[in-house]
Amino acid sequence: MCGIIAFSERGSVAPHLIKGLERLEYRGYDSAGIAVMSDCVIRTCKTTKRVNDLEAKYNAHPFYGGVGIGHTRWATHGAPTETNAHPHLSEDGHFAVVHNGIIENYEALRAELKSEGHFFKSETDTEVIVHLVEKYYNGSFLKAVLAAAKRLTGTFAAALLCIDEPDTVAVIRNFSPIIVGIGTDKTMASSDVSAIAEHTRKAVYLDDGEAALLRPDSVSFYDFDGNPVEKEITFLDGTEGDNGKNGAAHYMLKEIYEQPDAVRRLISEHLKDGEVSFSLPSLSREKLEDIDKICIVGCGSAYHAGVSGTTAFRRLAGIPAYSYIASEFRYMEPMVDSRSLVILISQSGETADTLASLREAKKRGAYTLGVVNVVGSLIAKECDDVVYTLAGHETAVATTKGYTTQLAALYMLALWLGSERKVLGDKRKKQLTKELAALPGIIEEALKTEAHAKAHAEEMKELESVFFIGRGTDYAAALEASLKMKEITYIHSECCPAGELKHGTISLIEPGTRVFALMSGGEVAAKTVNNIKEVRARGAHTVCCAPVSAAAELTDIDEMILLPDTEPLFFNIAQVIPFQFYAYYTALYRGCDIDKPRNLAKSVTVE
Ligand code: G6P
Repeated sequence: MCGIIAFSERGSVAPHLIKGLERLEYRGYDSAGIAVMSDCVIRTCKTTKRVNDLEAKYNAHPFYGGVGIGHTRWATHGAPTETNAHPHLSEDGHFAVVHNGIIENYEALRAELKSEGHFFKSETDTEVIVHLVEKYYNGSFLKAVLAAAKRLTGTFAAALLCIDEPDTVAVIRNFSPIIVGIGTDKTMASSDVSAIAEHTRKAVYLDDGEAALLRPDSVSFYDFDGNPVEKEITFLDGTEGDNGKNGAAHYMLKEIYEQPDAVRRLISEHLKDGEVSFSLPSLSREKLEDIDKICIVGCGSAYHAGVSGTTAFRRLAGIPAYSYIASEFRYMEPMVDSRSLVILISQSGETADTLASLREAKKRGAYTLGVVNVVGSLIAKECDDVVYTLAGHETAVATTKGYTTQLAALYMLALWLGSERKVLGDKRKKQLTKELAALPGIIEEALKTEAHAKAHAEEMKELESVFFIGRGTDYAAALEASLKMKEITYIHSECCPAGELKHGTISLIEPGTRVFALMSGGEVAAKTVNNIKEVRARGAHTVCCAPVSAAAELTDIDEMILLPDTEPLFFNIAQVIPFQFYAYYTALYRGCDIDKPRNLAKSVTVE
């Protein structure tokens, strides 16, 4: 969480910092601030509101300078006040810092620095960094920054200024992401490449324990011992940037509509000449044959994708598969070993709990496979192999295309494993491959449910509570549908396996309660239909989403949403789409901040 941005250039840097922060706001939006080197003084502008307020404040009292740093915060240590907002300055205003991550030893450092006479203004862990730099400064900015970096434990990406080196930004990294951009007459650094992609095509991904000095015409890289480091330049192709809302009212709506193309892009990457294939260099033939258990680990929607995925792996590859919430994985005594395949799912590739699970799985000898969207992210780099979901940049905090591409990746991996291990017969494989290829078209059909959801969402704006039910893979999609609803509308939303209702949750059903039932047909149809009847008999307003072929079985339903038939194992990918719309329009009618729901952040780098 938290986004950092820095520029060293010859023009006026503040507008670039502010624009960069707008791009990074998805990482946290409790406060925002910039610091600019201006006439040998570091000037700051901060707000406890959003970046647009920062912009208004800056425009009212602008200051000019070509070197600066900026930050958008998701509060961890200390309330979201202006004092706790970054950038933080040293006592004499000589240095400034912005930081993403958590300094785990900040209390000990703070005590040490206080005993040496340092005075702290904020409650943040971050402030120790700038005091340490002040303490170690002896005429060399780089040396002081590196000495400070070596005292820190925890996760950090930080950018710093020093008034004695007015054209320089120093950057350090340990676990939290930071990318350096090399442009013409300007250099820059950011937590996410999308914030700098409009300024450069040349990016350098800093590794843990590395630092960089940015000047308008040059960048130099070092390890924390001060030794120069050669870094590889990654050439960007221009698609990494955030191309705005493209005419949509919100990023979420734009991203909902990007799903067919995103899934199509991913499928066509792995489905060629009727065969699904993956290149996983660390997975030898012997290892592939030897896998006796699959654990799929993730948080939030990524966990929900994992719940869907387990059924696909069990049915198509015949391997026992289990899904885990990443923050729980380590505490459940995970029985993984060298015969286990552990799949880590993460859109951002940064989620702290997922990363910790990955490290635990590796420690136990498992083969780890990342299913990740952000290229070069920590989880992508630390896994033995990675499958990128190719969803493109996702800005709305509530994921849509991030989730559906994760589903598509898991379906393909299950199909591939089943085929490689000769569990799937040729006929079934052919049929599944055909269904897979048709999924983008089915998603396009599912997008046509927008008008229905929009029309009914207004009736929902006053509701206090809603319920989602489903069985088997429908339950997996219901989990995601329910999460979408609660996270952006703030309506209490509960998901219950349809058959489990009668063991408690049904006591909450009263006349008018809205119950959304997800039903893919097949073996679960009759039983889910009974559960729908049970809640309807108690006065619930029932909404059911099902494939066209199941329509005949669905009588006495208040609202029906029918989608084209597909392989039931793959139905989740289309089934969730109407509920993305329900959540979106309900949030809209309730006047919620759809792209940036309260208290949330897109990239969750705290455990
Ligand atoms: C946050 C986001 C969710 C996301 C989850 C996991 O809670 O708001 O949309 O599913 O983190 O994130 P990841 O980047 O690991 O997929």
